[in-house]
Amino acid sequence: MKGTVIDGMAAYEALVKEARVDRPGFWARLAREHLVWHRPFTRVLDDSNAPFFKWFDDGLLNASYNCLDRHLYNGNAEKHAIVFEADDGTITSITYRQLHARVCKVANALRGRGVGAGDRVMIYLPMSIEGVVAMQACARIGAVHSVVFGGFSAKSLHERMVDVGAVAIITADEQKRGGKSLPLKSIVDEALAMDGTDGVHTVIVYQRTGGTIVWNPPRDCWLHELEDAQPDTCEPEWVEADHPLFVLYTSGSTGTPKGVQHSTAGYLLWSAVTMHWTFDIRPDDVFWCTADIGWITGHSYICYGPTAVGATQLIFEGVPTWPNAGRFWEMIAHHRVSIFYTAPTAIRSLIKASEADSTVHPRRFELGSLRMLGTVGEPINPSAWEWYAREVGGGRCPVLDTFWQTETGGHMITPLPGATPLVPGSCTLPLPGIEAAIVDETGSELPNGQGGLLVIKHPWPSMLRTIWGNPERFRHGYYPPELGGGLYLAGDGAIRDPETGYFTITGRIDDVLNVSGHRMGTMEIESALTSHPLVAEAAVVGRPDETIGEAIVAFVVLKGPRPAPEDAKNIAEQLRAWVGKEIGPIAKPKEIRFGESMPKTRSGKVVRRLLRAVAKGESIAQDMSTVENPAVLQQFSHRA
Ligand code: WT7
Repeated sequence: MKGTVIDGMAAYEALVKEARVDRPGFWARLAREHLVWHRPFTRVLDDSNAPFFKWFDDGLLNASYNCLDRHLYNGNAEKHAIVFEADDGTITSITYRQLHARVCKVANALRGRGVGAGDRVMIYLPMSIEGVVAMQACARIGAVHSVVFGGFSAKSLHERMVDVGAVAIITADEQKRGGKSLPLKSIVDEALAMDGTDGVHTVIVYQRTGGTIVWNPPRDCWLHELEDAQPDTCEPEWVEADHPLFVLYTSGSTGTPKGVQHSTAGYLLWSAVTMHWTFDIRPDDVFWCTADIGWITGHSYICYGPTAVGATQLIFEGVPTWPNAGRFWEMIAHHRVSIFYTAPTAIRSLIKASEADSTVHPRRFELGSLRMLGTVGEPINPSAWEWYAREVGGGRCPVLDTFWQTETGGHMITPLPGATPLVPGSCTLPLPGIEAAIVDETGSELPNGQGGLLVIKHPWPSMLRTIWGNPERFRHGYYPPELGGGLYLAGDGAIRDPETGYFTITGRIDDVLNVSGHRMGTMEIESALTSHPLVAEAAVVGRPDETIGEAIVAFVVLKGPRPAPEDAKNIAEQLRAWVGKEIGPIAKPKEIRFGESMPKTRSGKVVRRLLRAVAKGESIAQDMSTVENPAVLQQFSHRA
């Protein structure tokens, strides 16, 4: 990969040094080079109220102007911004000029419905051009979007909509995945029928399938009708650099999901810079990130990053296994994809599928257009990494294992193509400007070779600004006083290689599970289970799973007696369906086991370490002297 944007380790080291020597100067240079400012900033970092940092705070800009308008004048206007492949294979594409026009129309329509700067708009849409249009239209008028993944239930949608105080929702009649139509609008209706939603005055509906829906005028309106009635230009709202661009909910170890609030300038800056540094994006690339816009990856590497740098990207509506598990490879071949970014779970499931059916093996497809492969969301095991490099990348393409989080806004620790020597299973080194370290529970730095807590030492522009409506949760959760208050705590364990200093992420250190690259709080699933009328107590743990990373295992004590084996299956099925309804199908436990009480210490704490061992099927050799009722572990070792 000679000639990449950071060419060789010496170039990487030089950037690391530039950032260390003059931190503000480094970030200011990047912010001037990568963003278009309506009013230039004169201040870089304001850390007077740490950890509530402000970046470039007296500058004015607009995110949608940066992602769209600038391409009208730099030769990109007729370039494809998005090539969309629908579930059934239908292909639609849109140029930067057309995307700009659609965003302006929707932005005008939102303004016409009284939505203004700072107002919150929920987006509950399938993967579509319309999803990007909706997000960019909010950004254009300074409205704060909050996208909810289409797999979340009405209850989850409602909880987020109330927390964020939404005034409008943009949704679709239905979504299409794997040949099936799934409802969206009726779920929005269900959420709006619950308490505390009076503030929502507008529901904009994208007609995807034409399926039957209930219509509530004047609240409900069709996206296409609104667009038809609007001019295709729209003066952007110039906002301050730290104006919230969006709030995206994610799971934590305690309580309800938290609204991670991102800024406009710092966030957008890093999406754009990492498109260059990590992916080495070039004018003729076809970039494909398979994430959903409901997750941070879809925000940074679909909606904002690729458009900010004027790239052509592919967006896919469907699932990797339909109509067969060769879909990804067929699409890469057909669209001549050059940069492919997906999750380890997808890779592992496609390895399995290609072992079972050689016609869907990547070797059968013409993948010569690929030049870069990326992964994100969970640790990738070396054997999957090697398969990806060899069978998909043909041994030519670097595999970029990008470590980051909803809260970090963009990549943090990742190899750079053309610079970093790769090691399977390691996300290697922090990007220039990011200083990662491993510390113990008191915040003291540990030597290489010793595992500990992953922290980030200095603030960086794309970090979250706060938790929506809960600044204390932000301060305590991310800058814990135990670590001295000045270190950002990622929530992951990590270890550095003694020789290379490379980082390997060992997984979450809190009660957060990573299921197929999706973050799930064990507490959330436990609360969903205990809200079922039959359930007295529930404890949820993760069990390492070869394909999906971690499988959800729930231990349940019913209000009545422990169910007889013949009833257990049926009750487990009811509870799984209940969790699907409460949170969403992604939170359904893979397994539910029943006991007559919960194994606890004498002080009443559930002994999770033992439950984790039981879930793995390990014989319990651990110390049980502190457990009040060890006999129930025997009951819990049986599957329902
Ligand atoms: C958590 C963040 C970042 C976008 C998608 C997930 C895990 C993420 C990696 C990686 C090992 C990873 C961490 C992190 N994670 N990337 N390359 N190697 N683990 O965003 O939902 O905010 O989850 O995902 O545990 O804390 P998220």
